[in-house]
Amino acid sequence: MTFAPLHVPPPHPPARVGRIVAVTGACAVILIDPDDGTSQHRTPEIGTLLRVDTPRSISLCMVSALSSPMPSHAQDEQELRIIEVEFFGELQKDEAGNPLSFRRGISAYPSLGDILFRASKEELAKAYACDSESAVTVGHIAQEPSIPAMVKIDDMLGKHFAILGTTGTGKSCTVALLLRRILEKNPRAHVLLLDVHREYAHAFKDMAEVIGPGNMNLPFWLLNFEEIVEIVIGQQPNREPDIEVLRELIPLAKARYMNNQRRDRSALQRQRDPVEPGAIGVDTPVPYRTSDLIGLIEEHLGKLDLRGELAPYKRLKARLESISRDSRYGFMFGSLTVHDTMSQVLARLFRIPVNGKPIAILELGGLPSEIVNVVVSVLARLAFDFGVWSTGQIPITFVCEEAHRYVPVDKSLGFEPTKRAISRIAKEGRKYGISLCIVSQRPAELDATILSQCSTIFSMRLANERDQQILRAGISDAAGSLLEFMSTMGTGEAITFGEGVALPTRIKFDALPAEQWPKSNTASFTQSWAREMPGEGFLNEIVMRWRAQSFTPETTGPDLLPAGPLPPAAVDHPPPPLSPGFPTLRRPSGAVPGTQAQPPGTAGTRQPGEPQQSLASLIRQFRS
Ligand SMILES: Nc1ncnc2c1ncn2[C@@H]1O[C@H](COP(=O)(O)OP(=O)(O)OP(=O)(O)O)[C@@H](O)[C@H]1O
Ligand SMILES: [Mg+2]
Repeated sequence: MTFAPLHVPPPHPPARVGRIVAVTGACAVILIDPDDGTSQHRTPEIGTLLRVDTPRSISLCMVSALSSPMPSHAQDEQELRIIEVEFFGELQKDEAGNPLSFRRGISAYPSLGDILFRASKEELAKAYACDSESAVTVGHIAQEPSIPAMVKIDDMLGKHFAILGTTGTGKSCTVALLLRRILEKNPRAHVLLLDVHREYAHAFKDMAEVIGPGNMNLPFWLLNFEEIVEIVIGQQPNREPDIEVLRELIPLAKARYMNNQRRDRSALQRQRDPVEPGAIGVDTPVPYRTSDLIGLIEEHLGKLDLRGELAPYKRLKARLESISRDSRYGFMFGSLTVHDTMSQVLARLFRIPVNGKPIAILELGGLPSEIVNVVVSVLARLAFDFGVWSTGQIPITFVCEEAHRYVPVDKSLGFEPTKRAISRIAKEGRKYGISLCIVSQRPAELDATILSQCSTIFSMRLANERDQQILRAGISDAAGSLLEFMSTMGTGEAITFGEGVALPTRIKFDALPAEQWPKSNTASFTQSWAREMPGEGFLNEIVMRWRAQSFTPETTGPDLLPAGPLPPAAVDHPPPPLSPGFPTLRRPSGAVPGTQAQPPGTAGTRQPGEPQQSLASLIRQFRS
C-alpha cells in the first residue's frame, strides 16, 4: 500500500521591510520599501524585531524610531519613510541556514544595502526563549501573542527587580502572578512580603503564612539601638540626653538578663554562650526586659539629685511604661515573659522549614507609620543579617510594596535605619542570597540608588513625566524607545527590561483568575451607593476595630511562635544592685509586660518546639 505524500504548506516568505541606507555603530537607518498595495503587514512599529542575514548568522534589531522626512502632499505620491533600528543580538545559523540559539551582541555587522525582514515567529520564539529549567512564563509578548513572555528566575531574583506603575495599572496583580508562578515551580522558596494594604492573603491563601499585628510577636529586644530610640524617644527636639541614657542602660539590662539566665546553668553550659555579659553591646541581639530597663532607670534616679539630670530618666521611664501598656505596640512589648525566641521569630518570618507555606505575608495595614517604619527596618535588617550569618545558604526574597514610603529620594522623609537596611539589601544582598522586589507608584520619589540596583524592571503605565524620565535615564536607546508606550499601555501590560528577561520587550501579563487576585479591586461607587446601608452595628464594629487597632475581632491573637512548648523563659531573679550599697528599686514582677517570673531551672534547656539546630547555631554566631 502506498501513501500519498503529505501536503506540507510552504513556509511564509519572510516579509521584506526595506534596505539599510545608513549605519552608525549598532544603529542603522532603513528606507522602507514603497507600498505597492500587496503587503499584508503594516509598517513595523516601535519595538518590532527585524532581521538581516549575514554570512554566518541572522542579526536581530529592534525598531526604535519611525519617520517620514519628506511627507507627501498628494494621495498618489509615494513618500520616503524611514525606520531607525538598533542591533542587539544574533541567531547562529546551521549549515542549511536555519536559525539556532540566540545570543546577545553582534559579531558580524550589517552593511549598506542589506535587506531587512520582519523576524519570523520561529526567530521571535528563539530570541525571547529562556532556559525552561529556571524560567517561568508570565504572559506573552505584545508583538506576537503566540510567543510566551518568560522571566529567568535566578537572574531576576539574584539581582533585585522593580515593578513600577501608576495606581490601578496592575502592580499588585503582577506581584501575585510573578510570585505564584515562581512558587509553583519552587514550592520550597522563602519569600517575605510586606503588605501595607492587607491585599495579598487573598491571593496566596494556603501558600502563605499571614502575620498581622494580632498574631505577630516581634520582640522589642530584636530592635537595634536606632530603632528603639525611634520608638521610645522619637524625633523630639533636644533628645540627645535621653539617647545617651538609653545607650548606657540597654547593655546593662541585657547583661542583667543574661546573668539571670546563667545563674542556674553549669559552668560547661555557660562556656557555650556566644557572648559574655561583659561583652554585650547596645546592638547585640540578645533579650532583655523592659522591667530591668525601668529598674535601672529607677536606680539611677535614686542616685541623682540635680533636676536637669533627672529629666531624661523620668521621661524615659514614663515613655517605656506607656508603650508597654499601648495595645498598638502589643506585638513588640506585650509578651508577659521574655524568652529568647530569636530562632522561632526567624523560622516563622523566613519560612524555615517551609511547611508548605513558602511565603510569609506581613500585614502592616492599620499600624501607625512610626511603628511600620521600625518594623520594616527590623525585618530588612534581620533578612540581611540572616543572609550574612547563614552565608547565603537560604536565599530569601524580600518584597517591599509602596517602597517610596521606606526609601524616599527626599532625605528629610522616611526613617533613616529603614532606608539603610533596604539599601544594604539592594547593594550587598546579592552576595548573601537576599533579593529585593521594589513595588512603587512613583519611581521619581524612590531613592535612585535603590532603583539603580534593580537589574530587572517591569514598568507598567506611568503617566507622570518625571517618573518616565527616571526610567529613560537608566536604559539603552532601543529599550528606551519602548518606554514611549509608558503612558498609553493598558492595565496588566508592562515594558520589561534587564537581566531577568531575554530582551527588552512590551509584555501582556496572563490574566489572573479572580480567586488569585490581591484584594485590591477598584471600588464600584455606583454599585456600593445603590445598596441599602448596613445597620448601626456596622459602624460600631468599625469604631471598635479602629480603637483596638486590629482588623480581627480579638486584639490579641496567637503568638508568632509556632505551636508547641515554649522555649526557656527568663528567670526573674532580683537583679544585682549596680554598686555595693546602692538601693535596688525594682517593680513587682508582672507590673509591666515582660516581667513575669518563670520557675527556676527552666533556663538554657533546648525545647522540642525549637527549629532546626542549624538556625540556633547561626544565631549563636550572629550574636558572637
Ligand atoms: N494580570 C491581571 N489579571 C487580572 N486582572 C488584573 C491583572 N492586572 C491588573 N488587573 C486588574 O486591575 C486591577 C488593579 O490592579 P492592581 O491592584 O494590581 O493595581 P496596582 O497597580 O497595584 O494599584 P495600586 O498602586 O493602587 O496598589 C485589579 O483589581 C484587576 O481587576
Ligand atoms: Mg497595589
